[in-house]
Amino acid sequence: MLCLGIETSCDETAVALCRDGRPVLEKLASQTDVHTLFGGVVPELASREHLRRMGPLLRALFAQSGLSMADVDVVAVARGPGLLGSLLIGLATAKALALGAGKPLVGVNHLHAHLLAAVLGRDDAAYPALGLLVSGGHTQLVRLAGPLDFTVLGRTLDDAAGEAFDKAAKSLNLPYPGGVYVDVLGAGVEADQGLFPRPYLDNRNLDFSFSGLKTAVANHVAAHPQLRAPVMPTQAGPADPESWPMELRRVCASINFAIADTLRVKVERALSGPAKGAASLLAAGGVAANSRIRDMLAGVAARHGVPLYLPPKALCADNATMIAAAGCRLAAAGLFHDLSLDAVPRGRKLPWDYHGAGRAPGPASVDSRPEPQ
Ligand code: KG4
Ligand code: ZN
Repeated sequence: MLCLGIETSCDETAVALCRDGRPVLEKLASQTDVHTLFGGVVPELASREHLRRMGPLLRALFAQSGLSMADVDVVAVARGPGLLGSLLIGLATAKALALGAGKPLVGVNHLHAHLLAAVLGRDDAAYPALGLLVSGGHTQLVRLAGPLDFTVLGRTLDDAAGEAFDKAAKSLNLPYPGGVYVDVLGAGVEADQGLFPRPYLDNRNLDFSFSGLKTAVANHVAAHPQLRAPVMPTQAGPADPESWPMELRRVCASINFAIADTLRVKVERALSGPAKGAASLLAAGGVAANSRIRDMLAGVAARHGVPLYLPPKALCADNATMIAAAGCRLAAAGLFHDLSLDAVPRGRKLPWDYHGAGRAPGPASVDSRPEPQ
């Protein structure tokens, strides 16, 4: 089964082909160059960029793969969560292609697709699995009874882990998105483990709260203004971390530690609580590219004697391969949508409104508590 996947939920415009859940080709255009000027994603600009870039990306995908819409068996599109205007560009494109070529359509939960990127191309993945989803917009612990059956066990009450990285980086005058800077500058440097709080551990639940960490970093930098990065570096990440001030690098290592260790405590709590007996551990989302977090997860998995599944770094951040791969799984289970498929922006519960033979996937990714403001 050949699936075309379309991803436009935030600031990456991406199209990809997967055959039977395995990657064929992806064409992705990041909008970082546009949004970095504003220190964050500007929704209206994001929608306009998606519209501008979609056509050329699709043409390049089909030209370079030697395939056409006639070869595609199903069109999959990220339907949410995400920015409403951005999601609508992807949905309109997917519906037009599906209608024009007479192909079935399936709307994919973007968070579900992130998690499945960890088991992409793996037919031997062990379930039930405990999944850690850490991205710019979400932080969740999820129990996966199977690839299409997932239950949210805990989530952030305020900032996501990626937001904590990005806001801490902003305090340090590092460019947006700053997570990769904090990762690379802090790698190989000993953290001061007491410098920043590991927030919201003094309880018995599986939720997260990272906003206090952001404030702690901002306060520390305000008291030590010499820590702020002296010049605005280029966007691609710090090319030569060795040349950066050691004081700044140690703060980055300490931020990495505080976030990684907070995640560790909650992952271990889940493994000895509601996810006890999990046969594997997996992690996904942009922050799952962080080297300290990958090392931390490898340690947890080894201690619990379960395999760890991580996406390659390129498939941690937003991409269309994960949408196409999830689309293959949903279509294989007989789950489709008709042209009334709607976008589900951040904060709205994703409905189970598939048509077709299969059983609906497990509870939607957003739990029933109100979304933090
Ligand atoms: O999954 P993603 O691309 O977008 C969302 O769906 O939100 O995640 C983006 C987030 C950003 O906050 C970015 O700073 C963070 O992932 N990120 C990292 C790293 N690479 C990306 N955070 C820490 N370490 C990294 N290496
Ligand atoms: Zn994402």
